[in-house]
Amino acid sequence: MKTIIAANWKMNKTRPQAVAVAGDVAASLKESPVPEREVLIFPPATCLDCVSAAADNMYETGIQNLYPAEEGAFTGEIAPGMVHDAGGTWALIGHSERRHIFMEPDDFIATKVNFTLAHDLKVMLCVGETLPEREAGQLRAVLLRQLTSALSGQAAGAVGRIAIAYEPVWAIGTGKTAGSQEILEAHEIIRDILRMVFTSGDEVPILYGGSVKPANAAEILALDNVNGLLVGGASLEARSFLDIVRAGL
Ligand code: 13P
Repeated sequence: MKTIIAANWKMNKTRPQAVAVAGDVAASLKESPVPEREVLIFPPATCLDCVSAAADNMYETGIQNLYPAEEGAFTGEIAPGMVHDAGGTWALIGHSERRHIFMEPDDFIATKVNFTLAHDLKVMLCVGETLPEREAGQLRAVLLRQLTSALSGQAAGAVGRIAIAYEPVWAIGTGKTAGSQEILEAHEIIRDILRMVFTSGDEVPILYGGSVKPANAAEILALDNVNGLLVGGASLEARSFLDIVRAGL
């Protein structure tokens, strides 16, 4: 499977700022192709169309969140059809900021995963424990709950259209990257759970996210069961994101 390097821009960038970075990333990938990597960008919804256009087929794009309905009276929400229309092919579901700031529960996230896949978008499902959960020895229990609730209804055909992002909540935006042992342990637990849920669970990519930088990307990518990276802060500038795309090559 190809290593996925994904940018989550969160609530950053106006349209001109987004197009500038998206264009620089596309130009660089065109000039020096990186066939070993699958590159994705999740811009804010307001920029999804212009980033998709600026991608110039060098990478795919996705929405950071969506609502599980085709249309209707859901003020402020985005439907899968709108994502297609704006050129997106992926949806980020269950990011820890959605779970913890916007209080999205597991069953709502499961509904979103089902709806997203049924509407022909690929899903990047984010999971991860908080610091109190980790300190209470609940890592496996939390990952099991988050993954089985979101995935156990899925048919085998979902493999190939789902990626998992392990993002320990305590490492997001804190500058505190999880250590190699912590990443190895969590990714092995996730792989075991994926094997329980899908007969071809080995084929589901598992990305690591949480304070990934150009300086630590290669080391993290070299770990067992790490099939990619989901990058927040360091993806906001083309140069640092591209350094992460090329890390370890
Ligand atoms: P940072 O890379 O800024 O820690 O963010 C990680 C993240 O939440 C990506 O989805």
